[in-house]
Amino acid sequence: MAKDWSPDSWRAFPIKQQPHWPDEAELDRALKQIASYPPLVFAGEARSLQTGLAQVAAGNAFLLQAGDCAESFEDFSADNIREKLRVILQMAVVLTYSMGVPVMKVGRLAGQFAKPRSADFERIGDEDIQSFRGHIVNAEGATAAARVPSPERLVQAYHQSAATLNLVRAFTKGGFAALDRVHAWNQAFVASSPAGQRYEQLAQEIDRALRFMRATGMDTESNPSLGTVDVYTSHEALLLSYEQALTRQDSTTGAWYDCSAHMLWIGERTRELDGAHVEFLRGVANPIGCKVGPTMTGEELIAMCEAVNPARIPGRLTLISRMGADRIEDGLRPLLRAAKDADHPVAWCCDPMHGNTYTSPGGRKTRHFEAVIGEIEGFVRAHRAEGTWPGGIHVELTGEDVTECIGGADDLQDADLDHRYETVCDPRLNGRQSLELAFRTAELIRSGS
Ligand code: PEP
Ligand code: CO
Repeated sequence: MAKDWSPDSWRAFPIKQQPHWPDEAELDRALKQIASYPPLVFAGEARSLQTGLAQVAAGNAFLLQAGDCAESFEDFSADNIREKLRVILQMAVVLTYSMGVPVMKVGRLAGQFAKPRSADFERIGDEDIQSFRGHIVNAEGATAAARVPSPERLVQAYHQSAATLNLVRAFTKGGFAALDRVHAWNQAFVASSPAGQRYEQLAQEIDRALRFMRATGMDTESNPSLGTVDVYTSHEALLLSYEQALTRQDSTTGAWYDCSAHMLWIGERTRELDGAHVEFLRGVANPIGCKVGPTMTGEELIAMCEAVNPARIPGRLTLISRMGADRIEDGLRPLLRAAKDADHPVAWCCDPMHGNTYTSPGGRKTRHFEAVIGEIEGFVRAHRAEGTWPGGIHVELTGEDVTECIGGADDLQDADLDHRYETVCDPRLNGRQSLELAFRTAELIRSGS
């Protein structure tokens, strides 16, 4: 266990990106309530994910981490969760089938609410109002009243996470995710796209393989690896008081786990080595991610590995690079070398979204599909050059037919962004773009880019 650590030891460290709660007593009540609630995930599940991520670190498996930039209190329904899950399952099938390695599926869901912001305040007219920090903190409306942080939202986020996770568990264990239903995951608006048609062919090949296995006498009906899948949850561990309230000691090992999600990551804006976020996460035994932006140096990277994973446990630390398509190849190579030379068993994952965001002429925050692919391409090339494994992708997506990112097979344009721009934070790939991304990624990795 981490030395000199307790679930609240982070409170003695400088902390960034926290809301200014107007009423401390009210905040305290909400946190006590959450601390008395059941854990959302179990330690044993987090350990299974870590075992899978160790395979990613070793180059024998691939990580697909995907979901909303920020989950929404309003856009919360069974349909929405199912569509997101469907596209994640489709992408995982494409990647598994094309690459021939197991794919660890980790959602940015059931807890991905809190957002870091570049400024604490936003200028609206002649007034400075608090920035929107995700529905776990405040509302996005552009008024001072909407932006006042409300602790009740922490409790609501807990309940929404529980309900989301419940449905994810039902879908993934109750038949919906069975491999003989691959066709059913192809929803109509995706199926009509070139990637959807390609997926249909792949689904037919899987059908044929399943028929073949049944014909040879294999019982495909009751085989759990064909009938169910594991989808894990993850989010940025940003609001440390919320994370602390869900941190529990595992009765079998005595280790502390943050039971708000299976995997937690440290964001690009809160990764100071002497800051509260690193202090908190170094002490919980969940698999941990850390975003790696363009300013990260090899020295800092190794110090991060030492802080979070001094015992060098494979699967404990996943480094999620996000540098931008133009910078990734040259920026990543020295970091890959540094981790390899220091013998740190990290899993490397590519976030091709956050380094490629820009504002469109019409004022919408967007990303170009080709820049996203370009970053994955540079990521794969850097790994090939250094002899390391491009272990995964981390993407912001939705199963819905939104128009938030431009490009892709439909060649969405700036002018299309207004049709269905629904994200409460960053622009997400829609279902068609996500599936296309899975095919392109598999090709890049197979070909070595
Ligand atoms: C995010 O993942 O939504 C995010 C804010 O990323 P980053 O910390 O890499 O900017
Ligand atoms: Co984002």
